[in-house]
Amino acid sequence: MSVVEQLRLALGYEFQRPDLVAEALSHSSWAHEQGLRSNERLEFLGDSMLNAAATALIWDRFPSASEGSLTRLRAKIVSGSSLSTFAAARGIGDLLQVGKGEERQGGRARPRLLEDVMEALIGAIYLEAGFDEVRARITDWFGDKLSALDDEVEPQAERWKDPVTRLQEYAQAHWKLLPDYEEVERAGPAHQPCYGYQVSVRGHLLGEGRAPRKKVARRRAAEEALERLQRPLSIAVDGPASSGKGTVARGVAAALGYAWIDTGAMYRSVALVARRHGIAWDDPVRLGRAAQGLHLQLIPDAAGLRILVDGEDVTEAIRTPEIGKGASEVSRFGAVRDALLALQRRLGEQGGVVMDGRDIGTVVLPDADLKIYLDASLEARATRRHAEQLAKGAQQHLDEVREAIAARDAQDMGREVAPLRAAEDAVVLDTTDLTVEQAIHRVHELALSILDKRTLLP
Ligand code: DC
Repeated sequence: MSVVEQLRLALGYEFQRPDLVAEALSHSSWAHEQGLRSNERLEFLGDSMLNAAATALIWDRFPSASEGSLTRLRAKIVSGSSLSTFAAARGIGDLLQVGKGEERQGGRARPRLLEDVMEALIGAIYLEAGFDEVRARITDWFGDKLSALDDEVEPQAERWKDPVTRLQEYAQAHWKLLPDYEEVERAGPAHQPCYGYQVSVRGHLLGEGRAPRKKVARRRAAEEALERLQRPLSIAVDGPASSGKGTVARGVAAALGYAWIDTGAMYRSVALVARRHGIAWDDPVRLGRAAQGLHLQLIPDAAGLRILVDGEDVTEAIRTPEIGKGASEVSRFGAVRDALLALQRRLGEQGGVVMDGRDIGTVVLPDADLKIYLDASLEARATRRHAEQLAKGAQQHLDEVREAIAARDAQDMGREVAPLRAAEDAVVLDTTDLTVEQAIHRVHELALSILDKRTLLP
């Protein structure tokens, strides 16, 4: 599949000019080697267009927000990390051209490079199709984040406020206390000093900052504190086959305006690719290599998440019972798990995600803010899966479905690497007698209570 076609699927935009696409995908390390133009100029252009489009988006949506609020809202929508996470999920790094040295150092997965290539692609879209198209793309890619931002607008804030003032207001509103700033470090020669500040409330450390000027160091400490207090959650959902993880994770993500990441789909993709390339599901070496080279794209749409492998939409193809069984088999191997782990962590590290799988709370995101272990009786799970399959027109008997699920449980729980189990700090939720809506509601409530509790001092 051509690069233009892959980009069309990933970005929802069809490029017309191959020369611009080539330029946008040329990292400087590669361009220098080849004597070509790198994507830096396009990146420069795209950076501005992105900001303008994000500004237009929030301008309409938050008509009473102050300038300070608008600045913060815009940064939340189009921060470097949101761009690089977006690019990672959609497999843009695999399309980037990087030089040999950069390749060896794993450059194409670096957040900074991903951010730059996204900006360059936006610059190229602007040149081809104009600002309206850039705006449409930004709305399409990041519009969902807006719903999660409603609470952050402070219409009463009429003037721009610096982080120190905002933290002070936050501390007064929530704790009726003032933050304390303390100089904890002074380094460097007299003409080039570096100050370190900590900000805390009632002895509880909130943030740290370093800078050549005291005032800037204090501001950085306040920024870090605000960032921590307002960071979106990362939520891990684990559980056995057909416990409803995917449906619940997706529902909770939608309710919070977060991204949903289905890690089972990644293992299923490895199993599918292996099958197509004649790689046995018990060949760890070749499977590891296939997983390492997997060009995966996770693209949210109205129906959930579309999964693309090498540009091909495999959303349906990976859902068969056969591929589910294969996924369970290939996921036993450390080489396969390691290859997927880096991507999973990258997608989770910024928060604002609900990730479901088998080892999310135990291995992938051990510091997740909320860990859920969804369970249900074997009978309930088999009945659900059976009903799903009947609806799809499959003719499996309930006994067979029950047996397959039991076998999958045994395999996933019994393997040596990252076996399925509840993390010690997970909330176990038995959904045997719950409807999907009830399960989503419970998890959503737990997430909201964590967000609330953040405002309480220990
Ligand atoms: O959730 P699922 O049915 O799509 O997962 C398919 C298989 O993938 C599952 O049986 C085990 C494996 N898997 C895993 O080992 N670790 C994960 N985080 C997710 C899935």
